[in-house]
Amino acid sequence: SIDISTLTRKTGLTALDYGFVNTAATASKVTYIDGDEGILRYRGYPIEQLAENSTFLEVAWLLIYGELPSADELAAFDERIRRHTLLHEDLKHFFSALPHTAHPMAVISSALSALSTYYENGSSSNDPEQVELTTIRLLAKLPVIAAYAHKKSLGQAFLYPDNRLGFVDNFLRLNFGTMAEPYESNPVLTRALDRLLILHEDHEQNASTSTVRLVGSTKANLYASVSAGINALSGPLHGGANEAVLQMLAQIRDSGESVQRFVERVKNKEDGVKLMGFGHRVYKNYDPRAKLVKDSADEVLKDLGISDPMLDLAKELEQIALEDDYFKERRLYPNVDFYTGVIYKAMGFPTRMFTVLFAIGRLPGWIAHWREMNADPQTKIGRPQQLYTGSAVRDFPRR
Ligand code: ACO
Repeated sequence: SIDISTLTRKTGLTALDYGFVNTAATASKVTYIDGDEGILRYRGYPIEQLAENSTFLEVAWLLIYGELPSADELAAFDERIRRHTLLHEDLKHFFSALPHTAHPMAVISSALSALSTYYENGSSSNDPEQVELTTIRLLAKLPVIAAYAHKKSLGQAFLYPDNRLGFVDNFLRLNFGTMAEPYESNPVLTRALDRLLILHEDHEQNASTSTVRLVGSTKANLYASVSAGINALSGPLHGGANEAVLQMLAQIRDSGESVQRFVERVKNKEDGVKLMGFGHRVYKNYDPRAKLVKDSADEVLKDLGISDPMLDLAKELEQIALEDDYFKERRLYPNVDFYTGVIYKAMGFPTRMFTVLFAIGRLPGWIAHWREMNADPQTKIGRPQQLYTGSAVRDFPRR
């Protein structure tokens, strides 16, 4: 095998690759994608089979430890996560310091940084026992932090987790239960959210995972690395697209503009307007996750007896775009974000929570990559090169 780093050092060769379109930053065993064929596999298992037959926590174990868990291992993992859901009471005051208008992505990323201050002795990236504990704490506490960010925006009291409930039901109850009214679980919604979380669990070296790895390569701990990943995810070209899709659909609906006219504006790149939820750096074919999400959207809305004009609008947009040469030539298809918002909306989540749900889903992938990187003896601190294009040397003026 060729050691590229030695080769480039010796030859002085530097590749300039904006957006890392052709540059691999690492080798990884976690996730396989074939963007031309629309294939996604976690640890070798096709996403379609996992979405159909598995659960979020089982897939989290698979991603983090490399194999499917036995029934006993999964039960112990689940039990351990349930026992770590409580937040330190003092940490709840953190939420009081923020305005109720705060974006929940900003709330959860800063809350994770704040969370690390409670575990300073144990946040070393090198101690396997502490890494294990941090893995459990993050999986247990991020959903609680996310639900509190939601409750804070509503001005409602925070509920304590009910650890008799499963992962997804506990989370839904923390979001939608109140002191006055108990949360009534709906198995269709529980299963739908579990599936959506599975679909988001990993996606190899996307921007947020690369961020987690880059931050982690400095030996920063998991809390700091995941908090940075959440910030990377918040951008509208990445996870923030699910929020942007619903805003786009609402804007089309409210403006009275026809879908065809909107698509024309996208094609003419008027004011930089894009078809949000379309296109992907890796998929040049239908995103396999988008297919599954679209089916789920139909199922959930049918079960809830909701007919949402936003779903019809999204389907009309997709139809027009898929038949249009602009999108065909550029091989632009719906990505995972195109239909998720319609489901989250039907579940009762406000638009600003959509990317937070993505973050909860992606957490096991971030953890798996951080751990893989730290266990790899080849890992070095991430430090891209640059081509300097600034001024040549010049003298500071005499005054
Ligand atoms: N709408 C309209 N045109 C688009 C879109 C879009 N959504 N996406 C790409 N294009 C066009 C570009 O303008 C460009 O056209 P050109 O050749 O005439 O200049 C061409 O398609 C290639 O696009 P790039 O921007 O070079 O593709 P890149 O791989 O860099 O970007 C990205 C991928 C960021 C996802 C892009 O498709 C996009 O902005 N999509 C909308 C935002 C979105 O949905 N993001 C979520 C991605 S999935 C995820 O993170 C979970």
